[in-house]
Amino acid sequence: MSSGTETFEFQAEARQLLQLMVHSIYSNKDIFLRELISNASDALDKLRLAAFADKDLAVDTSDLHIDLEIDPEARTLTVRDNGIGMSRDEVIILIGTIAKSGTAELMQKIKESKDAAGSQELIGQFGVGFYSSFMVADKVTLLTRRAGEATATRWESDGGATYVIETVDDAAQGTAVTLHLRPEDKDDQLFDYTAGWKIREIVKRYSDFIAWPIRMAVERTDNDGNTTSEIQTLNSMKALWARSKDDVKEDEYKEFYRHLSHDWSDPLEIIHMRAEGTFEYESLLFIPSRAPFDLFTRSAKRGVQLYVKRVFIMDDCQELMPEYLRFVKGVVDAQDLSLNISREILQQDRHIQLMRRRLVKKVLSTVKDIMASDAERYQTFWSEFGRAVKEGLLDDHDNQKTILDISSFASTRDPEELTTLAQYVERMKEGQTEIYYSTGESRSTIENSPHLEAFRAKGYEVLLLTDPVDEMWVQSVQDYDGKRFQSIAKGQVDLDTDEEKANAGPEREQQEKDFAELLSWMAGQLGENVKEVRLSSRLTTSPACIVGDAHDMTPTLEKMYRAMGQEMPTVKRILELNPTHPLVTGLREAHGQRKEDVAVAETAELLYGMALLAEGGELSDPARFTRLLADRLARTL
Ligand SMILES: Nc1ncnc2c1ncn2[C@@H]1O[C@H](COP(=O)(O)OP(=O)(O)OP(=O)(O)O)[C@@H](O)[C@H]1O
Ligand SMILES: [Mg+2]
Repeated sequence: MSSGTETFEFQAEARQLLQLMVHSIYSNKDIFLRELISNASDALDKLRLAAFADKDLAVDTSDLHIDLEIDPEARTLTVRDNGIGMSRDEVIILIGTIAKSGTAELMQKIKESKDAAGSQELIGQFGVGFYSSFMVADKVTLLTRRAGEATATRWESDGGATYVIETVDDAAQGTAVTLHLRPEDKDDQLFDYTAGWKIREIVKRYSDFIAWPIRMAVERTDNDGNTTSEIQTLNSMKALWARSKDDVKEDEYKEFYRHLSHDWSDPLEIIHMRAEGTFEYESLLFIPSRAPFDLFTRSAKRGVQLYVKRVFIMDDCQELMPEYLRFVKGVVDAQDLSLNISREILQQDRHIQLMRRRLVKKVLSTVKDIMASDAERYQTFWSEFGRAVKEGLLDDHDNQKTILDISSFASTRDPEELTTLAQYVERMKEGQTEIYYSTGESRSTIENSPHLEAFRAKGYEVLLLTDPVDEMWVQSVQDYDGKRFQSIAKGQVDLDTDEEKANAGPEREQQEKDFAELLSWMAGQLGENVKEVRLSSRLTTSPACIVGDAHDMTPTLEKMYRAMGQEMPTVKRILELNPTHPLVTGLREAHGQRKEDVAVAETAELLYGMALLAEGGELSDPARFTRLLADRLARTL
């Protein structure tokens, strides 16, 4: 008996993803089976955990397995598991929608990407999951009954805009996905997936380490021509991480990595280790060779799975990997934890904390090794993940030094090549005690900002920090190797040698006297915007620049906090004037002669506006600024 069918529409993003599958932008279609097996395996893991947590759940967990059934006549392939199954509502939510964050953005990017290779690259970063069935099937039927429920649900779709759902009474617990296969098309890498050898080959290649038996009926014909059928287990079920390093082939690691990460490319580094002693665990971690598309979305997950004695416990185990290493993928299998362990317990468990500390140290030291041995690979690592790694400078105090060691930064020394801090320190000029840096929105804004002038003129190297996270960590990290970090846009700058100072001293004193009146008048004029007007020692060609006090927040950081919804008072900054610039000396004279002239006051205002623009800042009243400037220009014609 069934309760009639109901038709539903797929969610918009789901429809788009389905379209991509139907029009098969992937070249490698074989992977659909890996996806279905991985879902079945997840469902078996979940059932085992559920049975463990809820003793009243009357389910048999003694023979959990995945069955593959092929029917060459009907041209169908069925993947059947006796796992947790889905309720009707779950089918609608889990199969009818894509809950992953960032899906809409990804679909947009794929649409915009012109060529197929680009799309493939993009989608390769995204788990395609269940929908990959539509690469090889023109109709998919799913029959599922959730453990503990009496009725089952039948779902069917041709991958178009809609699917139908029907409640049915009789079905085994678990899920069976039946693919109605498209005709074979070898040119399009669409093979005959009713061929036993092909299925066996795919399972071996992609799913060998799945912890549950993947079974298939195999026909045998003996010498007398009698055909018998027997059930065979296709996979070895050996957990890769539990094997000794020497026994695992490079390719096996790579396949396992792909299975875990759904990434198409090879990992950048494999970290396989075993901890023995009072608290034993095995871990197999991977550093990917490229960042996932959602590395910087708020809900980005961490990539480490926790197993206990070969039993899958959870994905996204936050207790094992800090957020700044969220791109590290892998498995940690602990021997002495309870299967029943909850997130709450994990947070407090001392062993888990020890494990985490060790794993983090291992990942960081591995990067350090790569850095020492293979510059190119390190550069790939840094360009993909550096931005995330630097977040660790904010909250992982224990490893701050190591994180600084493995970081690299753009600098004025070379337009392209990055520098490490150790290299910077080695190049520091005699007598230089601080590491100079500037933060800003882009390399060119910083390079053209007036703050840099004196540093450039005197040949000091300056780090150019343009990532948003840079604004944050420079606030909290004091020094590297005993050398303080010093912003070139903050505090007083003192680049002169003692000798230069001795020579310039009297001249400077004279300048201070000459400009005293102008400076205090301007401070009054611009009081709403600046807290002080003073003479500068960091300018060589620009008339003026704006700087902050040593501990002031930068305007970019202020803006970032506001964007995050925090209330921020505006920090007033300091206007510095170049006493040798004709505009500044001219202004002094004009002010000396015509104190009451509005044009003089307007020039002071323009000077401030120009300083703001020069560092890439924003004018509070751009319309007024342009009007004043246009008036001025008109008079010069
Ligand atoms: N055989 C199954 N048994 C029970 N639930 C399933 C099964 N197949 C799919 N599901 C449910 O449907 C959801 C969607 O599956 P899908 O493969 O598209 O994504 P995923 O497995 O969550 O993520 P990904 O495959 O990208 O790692 C799953 O999360 C799961 O809840
Ligand atoms: Mg899946």
